[in-house]
Amino acid sequence: MTVMTCNTAASIPALADDTSLARRYQGLLSGDDADSRQWLAARLAEVSTAADDLPDTPGELDAWSARHAARVARDHACYLEQRQQGAPRRYFANRSQALWFLQQVAPTKAVDGAWLHATLHHWQDPRYHGLIRTYLEELGDGDPRSNHVLIYQRLISRLGCLEPLPLDDQQYLQGALQLALGHYGESFLAEVIGYNLGYEQPPLHLLITTHELAELGIDGHYFQLHVTIDNAASGHAQKSIRAVQQLCPQGDPEVFYRRVRHGYRLNDLGTDTPSLISRFNLEGELLAALERKRRFGQFMHADRCRLQQRTVNQWLAEPGALPGFLQALQAQGWIKRGQNPTQSRWWSLIDGPSAPMFGVFSAYEKQLWHDWIAADWQAPLRRVLPGSWMPDVQALPGSDGLDGGSESIDSLIARMAGNQHAQPQGLRATRAYLRATGLAQEGPH
Ligand SMILES: [Fe+2]
Ligand SMILES: [Fe+2]
Repeated sequence: MTVMTCNTAASIPALADDTSLARRYQGLLSGDDADSRQWLAARLAEVSTAADDLPDTPGELDAWSARHAARVARDHACYLEQRQQGAPRRYFANRSQALWFLQQVAPTKAVDGAWLHATLHHWQDPRYHGLIRTYLEELGDGDPRSNHVLIYQRLISRLGCLEPLPLDDQQYLQGALQLALGHYGESFLAEVIGYNLGYEQPPLHLLITTHELAELGIDGHYFQLHVTIDNAASGHAQKSIRAVQQLCPQGDPEVFYRRVRHGYRLNDLGTDTPSLISRFNLEGELLAALERKRRFGQFMHADRCRLQQRTVNQWLAEPGALPGFLQALQAQGWIKRGQNPTQSRWWSLIDGPSAPMFGVFSAYEKQLWHDWIAADWQAPLRRVLPGSWMPDVQALPGSDGLDGGSESIDSLIARMAGNQHAQPQGLRATRAYLRATGLAQEGPH
């Protein structure tokens, strides 16, 4: 729910106190956090009267999770069947929509796993080992090839989406919650366990997203990885249930389980994935990208560049003229919509190393142009296998296994926080923590 002011069209998120969610997220990320503890407590109070689908007691969670997994499997089979019979993609009409989605969820993906940070302190208590193992797997055990945050960042880099897209404030909500849960986890352990329970149950949208990204030639390794690692039989989903059951106090389960439920419900705050994806508007995104360029581009064109009697500089100088600019490009025959974009003159101006406007548009922006020009024309699909691009860890600094030194466990844990673990020092600290606690996973011998 948002409140629109009449003169600025700025939207005020219903959940914000006096701080925007983006600012709170950035504050938590940079370690400069003012009042996120109270903010988190307020969000928990807000969901305390909300409904959820959890069973009445922790003992019933296994059956609940099995039912959830069976429903997802059934719905997924139904989706695949529909696709086999020729139904179009359910989520992503084109590659632009997929790239847009990947950028919308980037603030959350950049802190994947952060909510579990405080569990690291409990390495001497075996009841926490499932949660700690989950967190260490999010961190890739300190191996940059397997660190979830780095896997996502590499994906975004490869797709040419490094330039941050202005996002709706709500897109920072889940990331801020995750960082706050990690930062204040010692005071909110039951809520952390509940949040983890909700986050780690593999949803249907994860399976559909994985399928459709591959179809669009986008490496879905990050998503495929979560299909396998979060599985309900032995993965993060199963560990999340075991943690609730093992840490629930025998004598007084009610208070603990109520707090678990509140943490679980935090997963429902913000926009759900299918609704978010359906908000994409191709022409709107193209116009927004052009508007961002307009301020820089309006003095850059020679006056002999004319389109429908106006110079390009004139088109770009006037706010609100960009829809007319798109019309003019078509009227002039520079863009032929509904055809292969490479046949449009405009495409040859923006794409390729010798294009006159080479480098003006990012890979994402060119994809917007491409898909807007193509409209109903379908490019042949280029399926890619998940994980087809992997860095060579041997070539990376700090991969010699000799790092970590003799730091105290507490200082290693501090560098493994959700806002630091993906940096070289955090990766080294993770490897040192594994050695110091004896929690490194052994392979089969
Ligand atoms: Fe993850
Ligand atoms: Fe997970």
